[in-house]
Amino acid sequence: DVMDRSHDGRQPRANMQELDAALTQLADSLMPTAAEHQAQLDVFEGVKALLQARYPGARVHLFGSVANGLSVRHNNDIDVCLELEGVDDQAGKAEVAVAVGELMEAAGMAEVLPLPKARVPVVKFVAPQTGTKCDVTVNNVLACINTKLLADYCAIDPRLAPLVALVKHWAKRRAVNDPYRGTLSSYCYVLMCIHVLQMRPTPVLPVLQQLPPTFRRTVGPWTCEFCDDVESLRGFGAPNRESLAQLVWAFFEYWAWRHNYSHDVVCVRLGTCLHKDDKDWTRRIGNERHLVCIEDPFELSHDLGRTVDRQTRAVLHKEFTRAATLLRDAHDPLDMLFASY
Ligand code: GTP
Ligand code: MG
Repeated sequence: DVMDRSHDGRQPRANMQELDAALTQLADSLMPTAAEHQAQLDVFEGVKALLQARYPGARVHLFGSVANGLSVRHNNDIDVCLELEGVDDQAGKAEVAVAVGELMEAAGMAEVLPLPKARVPVVKFVAPQTGTKCDVTVNNVLACINTKLLADYCAIDPRLAPLVALVKHWAKRRAVNDPYRGTLSSYCYVLMCIHVLQMRPTPVLPVLQQLPPTFRRTVGPWTCEFCDDVESLRGFGAPNRESLAQLVWAFFEYWAWRHNYSHDVVCVRLGTCLHKDDKDWTRRIGNERHLVCIEDPFELSHDLGRTVDRQTRAVLHKEFTRAATLLRDAHDPLDMLFASY
């Protein structure tokens, strides 16, 4: 088989056009329909009305994937931020989380679960009509700002959203999308995708935090600045002609074989990797192990890989390697790639 002998081991064996068509179709099928999106916005409006009745004048924001255009179907979850003046410390936010829990309980929400002691105090519940899971946090300004950053990256190149959809789908199927069990959050996977697209030899995405800032906010000790002039940046990635399939391959190849887990910190802020020494993320401090290091773009002391331990790092690396190997060697890798763990 001529095809096989010309296979150099550094490129996928599959027909890239066919693979691209199949991945594009799969990504499309993972995106929520307009009706599904509207249903989530309706739930948000209901929650917002309840919160504003209890806290007159408060602003209520939708953030996370439903707000940034990176949600996938069947992940029925919305993230809501209640903005209240004068509630800045952990204890105040915890108190509000409990009070909002009582409010939602009284309003007939299901499975109400306040988590006042979490790093970001939150109350979780389910809207019974649609089964939509809601997380309400208080003054979670950084999350609203990083949602906007991700939305802006999404608007710049149309390949980011389908890449994220496929990676989220893969991570769910392979059971490596659960920070409570030592793997990585959806938000972390999005940053990992942006990183790979920024690092292509011909970049697909710019580094918005390295361009002259048009958006500026200060949140506690953190200065959040980036260029949000997406109009002028649309088409930035056009010189890169890589298809979705090539970028999926690039993603898994990077995380399987190119990323240096011992030394590197992924830094979307700078569009490169930093060294763990630069951040003093070289050893375990408390529960933070810094084995896989992904710097939050604004909360610079926050390592999104902090949840990973030695065992789950091995699991993650095994899964990245499995995916990259399948893409490289299989003639028709898709069923295996997304097979349930
Ligand atoms: P899905 O809900 O899986 O579709 O993805 P998502 O992008 O909404 O991510 P997730 O629900 O995990 O997080 C919601 C938002 O919380 C993210 O978009 C971020 O804006 C914000 N966030 C900030 N820091 C963190 C963090 O350390 N972990 C998580 N999970 N979210 C964070
Ligand atoms: Mg979410």
